[in-house]
Amino acid sequence: MSMRNLSVIILAAGKGTRMKSALPKVLHPVCGLPMLHYPVSVVKRVCSSNSKVVAVVGCGAEDVKAAFGGRGLSFVYQKDQLGTGHAVMQASAALKGVDGDVLILSGDVPLITADTITALVKFHRSGGKAAPVMTLVTAMLANPSGYGRVLRNDAGAVEAVVEEKDCGDCERAIHEINAGIYIVKAGFLFENLKRLGNRNAQSEYYLPDLVRLARKAGHKVKALTHHDTEEVMGINNRVELAKAARVMRQRINTAMMLSGVTIIDPDTTYIDADVSVGVDSIIHPGARIAGATVIGANCVIEQGSHLVDSILGNNTTVKAYSLIEGTKAGKGVIIGPFARLRPGNVIADEARIGNFVEVKKTTIGKGTKANHLSYLGDAVIGAGVNIGAGTITCNYDGAKKHRTVIEDRAFIGSDTQLVAPVKVGKGAYVGSGTTVTKDVPPDALVVTRVSARVVEGWAIKRKKG
Ligand code: UD1
Ligand code: MG
Repeated sequence: MSMRNLSVIILAAGKGTRMKSALPKVLHPVCGLPMLHYPVSVVKRVCSSNSKVVAVVGCGAEDVKAAFGGRGLSFVYQKDQLGTGHAVMQASAALKGVDGDVLILSGDVPLITADTITALVKFHRSGGKAAPVMTLVTAMLANPSGYGRVLRNDAGAVEAVVEEKDCGDCERAIHEINAGIYIVKAGFLFENLKRLGNRNAQSEYYLPDLVRLARKAGHKVKALTHHDTEEVMGINNRVELAKAARVMRQRINTAMMLSGVTIIDPDTTYIDADVSVGVDSIIHPGARIAGATVIGANCVIEQGSHLVDSILGNNTTVKAYSLIEGTKAGKGVIIGPFARLRPGNVIADEARIGNFVEVKKTTIGKGTKANHLSYLGDAVIGAGVNIGAGTITCNYDGAKKHRTVIEDRAFIGSDTQLVAPVKVGKGAYVGSGTTVTKDVPPDALVVTRVSARVVEGWAIKRKKG
């Protein structure tokens, strides 16, 4: 459902002092994507396409803009971080003339869902003429520390929000907290922002002080008390970051299981938000699937494997403890255990990349096998090739990288060194232990082996010596 007459402000200018980080808080990743991604994507789902969405940026503004360019946001700059109220003020010009409601989200509350925002908008707009000027999301927390507390009057109506640092003992004992998510009538908002003061413990212009201003002027303020306390969690330090990531991970894993993927132990399986996995695939404990990885149907990802930005076709297996980055593999491929695939590989159907094999910027043809202990870098390898144990492409001469070409059905004996640039032709045979320094024509044999000398009785003679 998309909401009309709704403009959005997302607060993302704060440094996140409590993160103790050089990275702006909203760029800290949660399941592979910057924290800010989540509220932005909720907004995209809830709002109609002509809604204006303004992100207030400040600390690390250039980096935040670079990360979120092209997402339909307009950015406004808050030079000094003088508080959440001051941040919203910076968006006034960008939203000049809008009517309807302004939804205000915090960039550091990533677990909020589209369902909750939709419910908030509906709740705020219900009641016709008696509708409030402002509605905020609140929650009852067993441990409310760090959050602004919600003050209600005897009739239960919301009167004010008091920041923890400004709380007296009685206020600190309140368990209902402000989640930092608001919907405010545009007229009321832009009229009253300028009335916010900064005479408080942090000398900041607090956005939630709008509640008190509204009540003083006799307006109604409502609160949507949310029961899922995880959803409203604000991330201010790295302990909270880890907690939020855990919740997000559970959501991702749950959705994946419901879509037909077996995750043997969801508590120890780490799948990023953008990953997709096909039906009947099985993911074993300790697997980490990151970035824009796409896994087909009927695949198996075994214990401890780590995939980043890779694509696997159907029926492909990644055996235990393999690291696969930037690699595209076809169907029925078997990789690992203990394989290392660095970026830039294209591996055709039914190929085998075995234990302790490192592959980089290499194309591998259909059914080709490199089963043990090899380094294949900057190579183009055809179909049906056998790469013997211990084969090394010597691709680097200390200054430049060179290419190795191995054509279809070639046989590369164990312990071969291919000194690139070099080419082994179709069906050619490289004897074990060969250092290939010249191109090998199709169907030829190349061998550079010192012939073995056998001296009978030598050992006995030596002992007698
Ligand atoms: C804020 C609320 C608090 C609420 C909590 C919920 C205020 C004053 N307090 O506290 O009542 O319980 O969120 O998580 O609003 N920001 C700016 N510019 C600024 C200051 C902050 O853009 O000058 C942004 C931050 O980047 C962040 C958000 O606003 O995304 C909230 O700021 P933060 O400093 O985390 O406020 P809290 O102390 O968490
Ligand atoms: Mg916060």
